[in-house]
Amino acid sequence: MSGTRFGVLISGSGSNLQAILDACASGAIAGEVAIVISNKADAYGLVRAELASVPALHLDPKTFATRGEYDHALRLALDEARTDFVVMAGYMKLLGAEVLDAYPQRVVNLHPALLPSFPGAHGISDAFNAGVKITGVTVHFANEVFDEGPIIAQRPVPILEDDTVDTLEERIHEVEHALFPEVLAAIADGRVTVEGRRVHVASR
Ligand code: GRF
Repeated sequence: MSGTRFGVLISGSGSNLQAILDACASGAIAGEVAIVISNKADAYGLVRAELASVPALHLDPKTFATRGEYDHALRLALDEARTDFVVMAGYMKLLGAEVLDAYPQRVVNLHPALLPSFPGAHGISDAFNAGVKITGVTVHFANEVFDEGPIIAQRPVPILEDDTVDTLEERIHEVEHALFPEVLAAIADGRVTVEGRRVHVASR
C-alpha cells in the first residue's frame, strides 16, 4: 500500500471508516488509512481498524486539562502517523484550531444532509421532521464553524412517503458509503482544487 495517507477521526460504529478501508484495499482509493483516532473508548470503528491492521488510538478528551491540550495531542498523533489528509467520519466533536491550522484545506467532513440545510448532530431527523422531500449527503472541507466549510460533493436522497427516520437513515448511509470513498479517491488522485468557496473535482 502507498499513496495518500488518511488520518480518520471517528466517534462511533465506523461504517464509513469501513467503506474507506475497503476502498483502499481494493485500490479504488490510491491511498491508505494511516491511523484511526476515536474520542470514544467504545467506538466499534476502533475494532474495525484493528481488524484491518491499521493503528487505532482512543484519545479521551476527559483526560486532558484543557481543550487545547486535547487538540495538541490529536495533532501530534496525526503528524506522527504522517497524515496527509484528516477525515472526519462520524467524528461528533468540533475540531480545534490547532488541527485545522496544521492541515489547511486538508480536513474533510461527512454530513448526512444537504448543507447548508440541517447542520448539526441530527441532520437526518431534522430533515425528516421538517418535511422536506429531498435530503442527502454532503462531503465538505471542515473549517472552524461546524458544518460550514467549502462543499466538495453532494448527493440527493429522496424522502419517501412511507419512510421513517430509520429507513431514511439506512438509505443515507448507503449513499455515504459510496460518496465518501469517491471523494477521497479524487483527493488521493489530486483531482480536487479549491477556489474560495468553490471546490472543483476533475473527473478521472
Ligand atoms: C454518519 O451518518 C455521518 O454522516 C455522521 O455520523 C454518522 C457516522 O456513521 N456525521 P459511522 O460511524 O460511519 O457508521
